[in-house]
Amino acid sequence: MNFDDLARPCIRAERKKRLLIAMDGPAGVGKSTVGRLVAKALGYRFINTGEMYRALTWRALEERLDLGDAPALSRLARRIRWDFRTMADGVTIRAFVDGRSVARRIQDERVGKNSSTVASVPGVRRCLRRLQRRLGRDGGVVMEGRDIATNVFPDADLKIYLDASAAERARRRTRQLRAQGKGADFDSIRAAILSRDRQDKGRKANPLRRAKGAVVIDSTRLSLREVVDRILKRIAGRPL
Ligand code: DC
Repeated sequence: MNFDDLARPCIRAERKKRLLIAMDGPAGVGKSTVGRLVAKALGYRFINTGEMYRALTWRALEERLDLGDAPALSRLARRIRWDFRTMADGVTIRAFVDGRSVARRIQDERVGKNSSTVASVPGVRRCLRRLQRRLGRDGGVVMEGRDIATNVFPDADLKIYLDASAAERARRRTRQLRAQGKGADFDSIRAAILSRDRQDKGRKANPLRRAKGAVVIDSTRLSLREVVDRILKRIAGRPL
C-alpha cells in the first residue's frame, strides 16, 4: 500500500469537516460580495441561489410560458439540464442551463422583475432545493439566498442573516449605478427595494426570515471588510 492509499481515509474524513455556511438576507444587502470574499478566504466555493431562480425565469420567458401556470413552471424546472461549474476565480459556482451560460441573460430587468413570481411556486422551490442540497452536501461551501438557513440547510454549520436598512441599500445601489455612468434615482430605487422586501417576506412558500440560531449582522454602518471579518471570526478555531 502506498502513501496515497494510507492517506485517503484521512483526506476523506477531513473533507467531511468542511463547513456549510448558509447566508440569507434581503435584496441589495451585499450577500454575494460578502459571501464570495468569505468563501475565498476559506478556500471554499460560493453559490448565489438567486441566480438559479433567475435562470429558470429566463428560460420560462424564452419558452413563452405563462408565468401564472405553476405546474408548467415546476415541470420546466425538472426538465432543464442543470450543470454547475466553478468559474475562473476558483470560487464562484455558476449554473448552466441546457449547456448554456446564463450569467449575462439573468441580469436582464425583465428576468429580475418576473423572478419573484417564479420563486413563489412551491414545486419550483422543491426542485431547486434538491439541487442546492446536492451542491452543499459535502460542505466547503458558502451558499446565499432567501431560505438557505431556514429551509435548504436548517442544520448548516453557520447561519448568517445579513441585513441593512432599505435606505442604506438604496444608497449603495444608487452609488453603484452612478459609478457605472448610469442614471439612478434614489427614491425609485428605494421604492423598488421595499417592494422586493414585501415580496420576499410576504410569500407563502419559504419566505425570507431570520433562521433559528442565525447570527444577525446589520451592515448598515459597517464596511464590507468589517462584515467579512465578523463572519470569519465566527469560524475561527473551527476545523475547516
Ligand atoms: O437575489 P436575487 O434578486 O438574484 O434573487 C432572484 C429571485 O429569487 C428573487 O425573487 C428572490 C428569489 N430567491 C428565493 O426565493 N430564494 C432564494 N434562495 C434565492 C432567491
